[in-house]
Amino acid sequence: MERPLKILLSEHQLQEGVTAVARQVAEVYGDRPLTIIGVMTGSVVMLADLIRQMEMPLRVGVVQASSYHGGVQRGELTINADLMPDITGREVLLVDDIFDTGHTLVEVTRLMRELRPTSIRTLVLLRKAGRQEVDLEPDFVVFEIPDEFVVGYGLDYEDEYRNLPHVAFLEPHEIKSDGS
Ligand code: IMP
Ligand code: MG
Repeated sequence: MERPLKILLSEHQLQEGVTAVARQVAEVYGDRPLTIIGVMTGSVVMLADLIRQMEMPLRVGVVQASSYHGGVQRGELTINADLMPDITGREVLLVDDIFDTGHTLVEVTRLMRELRPTSIRTLVLLRKAGRQEVDLEPDFVVFEIPDEFVVGYGLDYEDEYRNLPHVAFLEPHEIKSDGS
């Protein structure tokens, strides 16, 4: 695997962003108990950094949503909530790696609302400018980015690059020309 070189967000910028958003989250919830649900798999890296900055009583869970079956184009969205803890009567913060078209967060929050949490808010590491196709806006956005395919800090291309400590543009020659 070739390492993509064009860095969009350095490790340091990511840490500063996550620290700042953790403060914003704390301003909203104070000391109230919170359930953080990470959308797998892209949110795992930020989730690990974020929860260590939270001081309220905290439960952590995951939900699996995948719209990409490899490649850079959206496929059909599948959601698996089997690993999600009970959220009925809880305040929930749903965390995802990137807000692109927005369909993933819309579908996951719709499913979660059926379980009657007290509240649901959404937090994303990245929001891709000008791509949204839904009414929902995330409650917390760490970074606004241009409309380019990015990898690292949890984000993947065909399940690779998640382990990069920074967020980098995927070089066009690394993307398969058929877009699959
Ligand atoms: P949405 O439903 O279009 O908002 O897509 C959200 C999901 O698409 C994210 O959770 C990512 O898994 C994936 N995604 C969208 N853009 C990118 C990108 O630039 N790099 C990696 N994954 C992406
Ligand atoms: Mg994802």
